[in-house]
Amino acid sequence: MRKIFRIVIFILFGIFIILQFFQPETNRGEVTSNHIFNQEAIPDTVKILLKNACFDCHSNQTNYLWYNKIAPVSWLVNKHIVAGKKELNFSDWGKLNAIDKVSALGDIYDEVERKKMPLKEYTAMHKKAKLSDEQIKLLCDWTEETGAKIMSSLSE
Ligand code: HEC
Repeated sequence: MRKIFRIVIFILFGIFIILQFFQPETNRGEVTSNHIFNQEAIPDTVKILLKNACFDCHSNQTNYLWYNKIAPVSWLVNKHIVAGKKELNFSDWGKLNAIDKVSALGDIYDEVERKKMPLKEYTAMHKKAKLSDEQIKLLCDWTEETGAKIMSSLSE
């Protein structure tokens, strides 16, 4: 019995090692002029929230924790990044036209206000990403102000 147990452990370990050779691409691109920090004047208090709570899935610059690089966790992380960036990529903010920006800001407001974002699976592991009611208000107020600013620049 003990021998079988040892063989099973050995095989599982072998599978685990093999999995490590199938890694998704690392999401660490250059910060360009299209990044939202280079596009909008954003207060530092809001910048920190976006960075801590959103950028890992919604930018080209993910800050990986050590175990995020280990399969199969790395696959799950990558799935979130790919799906997250498809909806919203703060690194490509400059590529959006004014209407799309205003609409994205509205979506951000909705997701944050309804506590849908950041994802629960994420905040369980990233304490800094957990937004207090105050921080939610700060972020939502910022989306409204920025949306209004963009709208008024349209009518000029
Ligand atoms: C752990 C990864 C992760 C984090 C962190 C995260 N998101 Fe997302 N986000 C996703 C994924 C995946 C989707 C697409 C699928 C979905 O809606 O669940 C998404 C979708 C969205 C959408 C589009 C929703 C829609 O259906 O219109 C918005 C807006 C958004 N996120 C904003 C944010 C903001 C703002 C933050 C930070 C406060 C944030 N997200 C943090 C993964 C993440």
